Amino acid sequence: MEFKIIKDLGIDLSRDLHVVILTGAGISAESGVPVFRGRGSMWGNPTARRLASYAYPPWNNRGTWEFYEWRRQLVAKCSPNAAHYTIVEMESFFNSFCLITQNVDGLHRRAGSRNIVELHGNMWMGRCLKDGEIVELPETPLKSIPPLHSCGEALRPHVVQFGEPVLDFDRALREAMMANLFFVIGTSGVVSPARDLPLIALRMRAKVIEINPEETVLTPYVTVSIRGKAAEVLPRIWMEILKLAK
Ligand code: OAD
Repeated sequence: MEFKIIKDLGIDLSRDLHVVILTGAGISAESGVPVFRGRGSMWGNPTARRLASYAYPPWNNRGTWEFYEWRRQLVAKCSPNAAHYTIVEMESFFNSFCLITQNVDGLHRRAGSRNIVELHGNMWMGRCLKDGEIVELPETPLKSIPPLHSCGEALRPHVVQFGEPVLDFDRALREAMMANLFFVIGTSGVVSPARDLPLIALRMRAKVIEINPEETVLTPYVTVSIRGKAAEVLPRIWMEILKLAK
């Protein structure tokens, strides 16, 4: 079946559109990374929820690292899927493009995406508890838990915990406000402030396309919502864009 999603939006499709994509855990589902909510998901486990909370007293850096090290080893066995790679192609096609992700799994970077706002950080990075310097930690298993910064102080995971503000939100907001075409892919849309971005884009008159196998809290508001898996639907929309683009 040929997709006619973009054509039906009635927009003038060209490389000059400002295209923004917001992704959530669902885009990595077909890579084998568990999502956070719903049956069999990560936050179904109370220990995982506790270790992802900044409010968990006192700040348990070792326990948090053990949790992320478990997730790092899981993700190390996974590969980016067709949806991650399609986003890389879209980035090189549109003159003005930004990817905003809630994911900390690093699969977008591994696929080759470059202009990324990682709102919740990245589990492959650590941040010094003393001077705040961010360092890459690609090796797993880690040499020590917690890993140490070159200054001798411990690093914490460069990941936003429940109760902490997101990273780079000002940049994400600017991108959402400039968007002509906004995709929201694989997110339940229940976590703020990421969930506000498609709504802000809509208010600024962008067309917003949601891709998700399930209906979400955002579904009633978006321009068009497509029920399906990201790795199947996004490459088909991309084919349609290539056919229509001037
Ligand atoms: P959720 O686990 O809340 O939602 C995942 C969404 O992906 C659901 O709406 C699913 O229906 C959808 N989904 C599942 N398989 C899919 C597929 N193959 N293709 C497309 N969509 C699919 O994850 P997020 O919305 O990303 O924060 O959660 C937001 C934040 O909550 C996460 O970044 C995490 C969590 O607390 C941190 O870790 C800081």
